[in-house]
Amino acid sequence: MTAQELRNKFLDFFKSKGHVVIPSASLVPENDPTVLFTTAGMHPLVPFLLGQPHPAGNRLVNFQKCLRTDDIDEVGDSRHNTFFEMLGNWSLGDYFKKEAIEWSFEFLTSKDWLGLDPNLLFVSVFEGDKDAPRDDESIAIWREVFKKSGIDAEIGERIFMYPKKKNWWGPAGLTGPCGPCSEMFYFTGIEHDPRYGEICHINCDCGRYLEIWNDVFMEYEKKPDGSFEPLEQKNVDTGMGLERITHILQKTASIYETDLFWPIIQKAEELLGKLYQDNIHSFRIVADHLRASVFLIADGVSPSNIERGYILRRLIRRAIRHWYNINISLSGLIAELAKTIIDQYGHIYPALNDKRDRIWLELTQESEKFSKTIGRGIKEFDRMIERQKSISGIDAFNLYQTYGFPLEMTMELAREKNIAINKNEFSNEFKKHQELSRAGSEQKFKGGLADHSEITARYHTATHLLHQALRDVLGHHVFQKGSNITAERMRFDFSHPQKMTLEEIKKTEDAVNEKIKENLNVRSEVKTINEAKELGAIGLFEGKYGENVSVYSIGDYSKEICGGPHIKYTGEIGKFRIIKEEAVSAGVRRIKAVIE
Ligand code: ALA
Repeated sequence: MTAQELRNKFLDFFKSKGHVVIPSASLVPENDPTVLFTTAGMHPLVPFLLGQPHPAGNRLVNFQKCLRTDDIDEVGDSRHNTFFEMLGNWSLGDYFKKEAIEWSFEFLTSKDWLGLDPNLLFVSVFEGDKDAPRDDESIAIWREVFKKSGIDAEIGERIFMYPKKKNWWGPAGLTGPCGPCSEMFYFTGIEHDPRYGEICHINCDCGRYLEIWNDVFMEYEKKPDGSFEPLEQKNVDTGMGLERITHILQKTASIYETDLFWPIIQKAEELLGKLYQDNIHSFRIVADHLRASVFLIADGVSPSNIERGYILRRLIRRAIRHWYNINISLSGLIAELAKTIIDQYGHIYPALNDKRDRIWLELTQESEKFSKTIGRGIKEFDRMIERQKSISGIDAFNLYQTYGFPLEMTMELAREKNIAINKNEFSNEFKKHQELSRAGSEQKFKGGLADHSEITARYHTATHLLHQALRDVLGHHVFQKGSNITAERMRFDFSHPQKMTLEEIKKTEDAVNEKIKENLNVRSEVKTINEAKELGAIGLFEGKYGENVSVYSIGDYSKEICGGPHIKYTGEIGKFRIIKEEAVSAGVRRIKAVIE
């Protein structure tokens, strides 16, 4: 079964259970300050999990582009990656545990669908604590479904219980929807690796059991005071990693020999004139990181030293370092590999085709920049080791400052020589130089600076006013190119060829404040894409399956396709002030603004 057949099977299965297919959202979350990247299919659905009606209904299914970098050091083994596709189905206050579990089991084991042997499946459930009880309901449902396949599913043999750390999902930021989850594991049969602990269990990381699917029962909301309150609307949120399930079905040695990665690896072999089996680890890192980079660039991220751009730079540079590692003399060709990735995925994710030139340009520029310094940097690193047999945090910072070495790369080189680096010393040095710190972006990546709060909604409504005001003041060539909101400020990127004059800035700011004063009503309606276009709503019309969309209107002033959240009246925003207008890239400007 090809990966594409698998995607289709998943969608078809849930369509047969009354689900509507929604498109994959961008890797860059819209209007969500809590995370840098979309890390799960539920991310774009947070407002709907909290009760806002979804325009496509209350049973949804999709495959979603995701990026997680917490396991970046594991990439290269048989099953870890950074970018991945997640197959997911959702119930927004509709069905709950019974259907979710029964359907997961049916999809995995029925001969009409994936046909996996149920004897090789194991499951985990939440063991209960002070916040929520043991999930006895799921245990009973699992016992029932296994029984129908003639399997006596005993606790401690087939069903295992774990605490929150393993069997609780969410919230995505500091607050929000969350709940106990039940995970499915596939027995791979490979020998337990004692480096991961004396005793193997289904959640052991050795690879003997592979986690393939997670059913989350989102029945709580985590509040700012840390408490868990039952949600009125009980939801289901599931996620299955496409790479892992493809690896199982295609019976490959790792996710990298599946048809999701293999064409990329074969092309890399050809470009590098080297064989995969002679340097499996580096080939895998190149394939994973470059694929992630291609998707990130297509979603509008550019390499830089902060936040998303930093993660992208780190991925590209790490890919290049391993590219060198495979064949030092052939450094210039890594962008060529991107073509294969675009050809392979472009028909499923059309943004890759649209951004073909940009992907090429960003990758070539970044590799040229990096190639120039990497050779010198490695020499300097070797000299440091020779001279002083160690690398201090300050040395690491200097390698970063002078040669553009990300700390992680220096640490990796150091690890290869069994040398530790003092991360704190590096961070202090970094802070001293008043850069926006990498630590900051990591922290944000892990779990958020802000939350889904009132302030976010106020800023978000303000971005709609700003968008319209800019179109009125500068012209209808202005379109939103991105936005980023934290509890302290908003950033709004838009298309415009030149610097705004002070007068234009003032006019825009005044127009927004005028509309705030008018205390306009904000309402949303569900429309088909065509209706939305006819209404003159602005926003993204792309997306393969999303037939219905929410159109947010602010009085008669602005109409935008959007997923919320918003406040009800513009008067709640407060005073709007533009604090900066600057260039982002050719033809794209950025406004930073605050509300007071
Ligand atoms: N949101 C859940 C996960 O990512 C399904 O595991």
